[in-house]
Amino acid sequence: MTVPEPTSAHAAWLPAEAFRPIGARRTLVLGDGLLVETARDEVAHACARFGGSLLRRADDRASGQASDRASGRTGDQAGGQADLVLALATEAHLPAAAQAVREESGQDERPIGAEGFLLARRGEVTVVLAGGPAGLLYGLFHVVRLGEAAFGGPRPVERHRPALRRRMLDHWDNIDTHPVMGQVERGYAGGSVFWQDGGPRGDLTRVRAYARLLAAAGVNAITVNNVNVHATEAHLLTDRLGDVAAIAAELRPYGIRTHLSVNFAAPIVLGALACADPLDEDVRAWWAAATARVYDAIPDFGGYVVKADSEGQPGPFAYGRSHAEGANLLADALAPFGGVVHWRAFVYDHRQDWRDRSTDRARAAYDHFAPLDGQFRANAILQVKHGPMDFQVREPVSPVIAAMPRTRVAVELQVTQEYTGQQRHVCYLPPMWREVLDFEPRGPEGPAVAGLADELVAVSNVGDDFYWTGHPLAQANLYAFGRLAWDPRLDPAALLDEWIDLTFTPAAAGDPERLRGTLHAMMDGSWLTYERYTAPLGVGFMVRPGHHYGPDVDGYEYTPWGTYHFADRDGVGVDRTRATGTGFTGQYPEPWSRVYESAEECPDELLLFFHHVPYQHVLRGGTSVIQHIYDTHFAGADQAAETRLLWQKLTDLVDPELHARVAELLDEQLRSAEEWRDQINTYFSRKSGVPDAHGRRIY
Ligand code: GCU
Repeated sequence: MTVPEPTSAHAAWLPAEAFRPIGARRTLVLGDGLLVETARDEVAHACARFGGSLLRRADDRASGQASDRASGRTGDQAGGQADLVLALATEAHLPAAAQAVREESGQDERPIGAEGFLLARRGEVTVVLAGGPAGLLYGLFHVVRLGEAAFGGPRPVERHRPALRRRMLDHWDNIDTHPVMGQVERGYAGGSVFWQDGGPRGDLTRVRAYARLLAAAGVNAITVNNVNVHATEAHLLTDRLGDVAAIAAELRPYGIRTHLSVNFAAPIVLGALACADPLDEDVRAWWAAATARVYDAIPDFGGYVVKADSEGQPGPFAYGRSHAEGANLLADALAPFGGVVHWRAFVYDHRQDWRDRSTDRARAAYDHFAPLDGQFRANAILQVKHGPMDFQVREPVSPVIAAMPRTRVAVELQVTQEYTGQQRHVCYLPPMWREVLDFEPRGPEGPAVAGLADELVAVSNVGDDFYWTGHPLAQANLYAFGRLAWDPRLDPAALLDEWIDLTFTPAAAGDPERLRGTLHAMMDGSWLTYERYTAPLGVGFMVRPGHHYGPDVDGYEYTPWGTYHFADRDGVGVDRTRATGTGFTGQYPEPWSRVYESAEECPDELLLFFHHVPYQHVLRGGTSVIQHIYDTHFAGADQAAETRLLWQKLTDLVDPELHARVAELLDEQLRSAEEWRDQINTYFSRKSGVPDAHGRRIY
């Protein structure tokens, strides 16, 4: 296999230079399996570039010579002794250093799992001992990440294994260019890496390169089409299955399994059945047969993703069946093959009457799903958006996550920046994700979300743009998502360092500290900056309807979407209390049901999510709501201006084209931030009649 390095795409966190420490050394790779071969190919490729050698057997200098001949090197240059050993822990013949690591770690009873690996350094040899082929590949990428540090002083045995078994990206990619949503729904990075003009992309090199990047970040599953399954895309399950198999073939060598979004009405749409009732025998037989054909074509197929009874997608409600019955239909079809169904909990009434104050969209997922806990099959995974609404810049954590102890739950994040600046604004999201993952629904005595979730899933921000993510700095979100899914305790700032060090290695050689410092100043707090100049205090949805970019305070106020802020001359916010509001606070266990219920105890940043308060209500932080709105909007726009200036000082350290792209986007971010500032401030100044205490310009 050739290592995919397409010239049509930025190298992101795998530039050739990142492989120098390995490529200049002697690496022994021991083990069998597709992913071990991938690791071998990676090492051989790096060695061909940097002069090192790939060794194939522990004891045999000649075999090193053989592989060196293949890469055009001589045995003498190679030597017989490895600097790096990558081996499956089960290998019979390990070199002495690896043998020692195995013996030492043998006293630790904890399994490392098929994706896990041990890392240690004994004498002059760095050792990766993997639980399986995937672990070996992850171990290799870990050594890439460490760079020269992997070959420094002694290293005690470290155990690495993913906290979450599935680390998945959902692509909202369409095959046909949708008249409203385009090729990629909520995509801000050009076209799809999979599909183009109604069919698969001819050249899938990009897909292989994408798989490689994702494997290096720890992702192991992808859904290749939009959760809104339109007419053409429905056929991926049947007559267009070959296209899916072709993508799966590109993803497989990097340990990424392919999943498919399917239409719940597929038996009608594709099978000419009269209904899609989950309890109908013909329907069940249809899904069983369709699924068997999928596994004939893609033996390691991951499973289905389903958006049902949501925003116009068909679902089990049409037949009076529950969502557990709907999910179990597909789970049963997949079970014989080891597949899973991801069933989305994003179910709500999108045809609400705005006059109806009793319906609360935030309540919907819990109301639909909490009563079904315990009714889902073991291979049905409930995929829950991290917040109760829809990926706003600030939401409380969804109460569904704690309400389903007998159901497998995947927490869904949005790497694509639909509501966080659409990859035109810098918005480094891991600090937000860490808040979600660290949230303790039952207080400090109970587990955090990271412990309750079985999986982490995110909507991808990738397209066919040269930089993959449109905004080059948005790559960091993709990278950090994979790393956090691997280990939710990783520090966002440390992840940013990893990404910076890998991505900018060659250009920043002059002054890496200045580059790192500036990018931290621009990115660490960028989520909070974005929050400051957009919708205040958790109220959400003050965006332009449809495309969701830029401010439109009342844009959604009188629509059927259930996304309201209820601002009037006296106050703003949504009363979701049990005492006087929609009762949403009651979906949380203690202590949060009590904390959120009280306008005094509720964290400031969520106040307007839970409470309708007067403009003069004093926040826990000491300022009034109205003054907070003014202050944060002025400060947020100022920060956007500052970010732009910081970037201007990096011209000497960053590739000129990348620099120019970011500079252009920062101009737009500043324009947009000022627009947000002025619309929000003006709106609330006019509504409330309260002047800014500092007399700043409001229109
Ligand atoms: C949001 C988004 C839609 C998407 C939906 C979903 O509402 O705007 O484009 O389809 O989420 O998650 O299903």
